Amino acid sequence: DGRTAEETFEAVIAADQKVEPRDWMPDAYRKGLIRQIAQHAHSEIIGMQPEGNWITRAPSLKRKAILLAKVQDEAGHGLYLYAAAETLGISRDELVDALLTGRQKYSSIFNYPTLTWADMGAIGWLVDGAAIVNQVPICRCSYGPYARAMIRICKEESFHQRQGYEILYTLSNGTAAQHEMAQESINRWWYPSLAMFGPPDADSTHSAQSMAWKIKRHSNDELRQRFVDMCVPQAEVLGLTIPDPELRWNEERGHHDYTSPDFEELMRVVKGDGPCNAERMAHRRRAHTDGAWVRAAAEAYAAKHDGSDR
Ligand code: 3HC
Repeated sequence: DGRTAEETFEAVIAADQKVEPRDWMPDAYRKGLIRQIAQHAHSEIIGMQPEGNWITRAPSLKRKAILLAKVQDEAGHGLYLYAAAETLGISRDELVDALLTGRQKYSSIFNYPTLTWADMGAIGWLVDGAAIVNQVPICRCSYGPYARAMIRICKEESFHQRQGYEILYTLSNGTAAQHEMAQESINRWWYPSLAMFGPPDADSTHSAQSMAWKIKRHSNDELRQRFVDMCVPQAEVLGLTIPDPELRWNEERGHHDYTSPDFEELMRVVKGDGPCNAERMAHRRRAHTDGAWVRAAAEAYAAKHDGSDR
């Protein structure tokens, strides 16, 4: 149609359509997507550890079965996202290596410890809740495979959030000790969950370009605000207190005023100085080494059967 590849790309973005793997795209668009999708996938995989920590200690068979299903879902989310990243021309080995060598990141939130059973509730309600607020807009992002991966992930995420909320509701309405355990957990997970949305917009290195390319549809602070506004009524129903004395409804703004998370702490945790960074990476590296024989067996099987009797 006489347009350059660049003009066609820009027109697709402007028309809110999808860029597909075989379309021409600027190198920086490709690299930016690989960065974000890979780190999103790494987050899902590392995110299995904090919750996996409580599978053997779940208080009932029902809670154990639900937690098992959730952790298994996270592995699946990692798989969808690695597969989406691979459509951009990077291999699974390169992606896994980028995580194991620390060249790429995973979400800060998973560097915090899960100290009590109530943390399974707090992670479901707050961390998966934040993930939903962040991931629903990505269903409308300009890169087709990423947007489509998000649709199923968001559906599963709402089950994750619901089961966490129900754990907290049960504890909050249980004995005084259970109520206290739920409140203590919220006290620890509230600010790190706010930090999940990233640095303030003014310090966000990728937001401007990411929003211009319609990868990021709302800014870090916009989504953080949306999350706070969503949590306030939910905390009331739970009968738990959000640990922020400055939290109040601001009629003019039509939003809640709230205390920001400690962004210095976020950057320290992102740089590797969080409570559990070393433990999470050591566990992941050990799992990768221990799993080498499974990969070798799968490759040997594939070589022998090269798809003939699939
Ligand atoms: N943890 C770790 N790194 C973070 C971070 C966080 N919470 N927030 C920001 N960063 C990093 C960014 O990756 C970037 O570093 P990089 O250039 O090395 O990648 C730097 O800090 C600057 O931040 P920006 O705001 O400029 O970066 P982005 O535009 O990429 O915004 C983001 C950050 C909002 C996390 C965005 O990448 C995003 O939306 N990612 C997809 C969603 C995602 O990864 N969620 C993580 C949680 S997954 C999860 O919750 C699983 C659920 O099942 C529990």
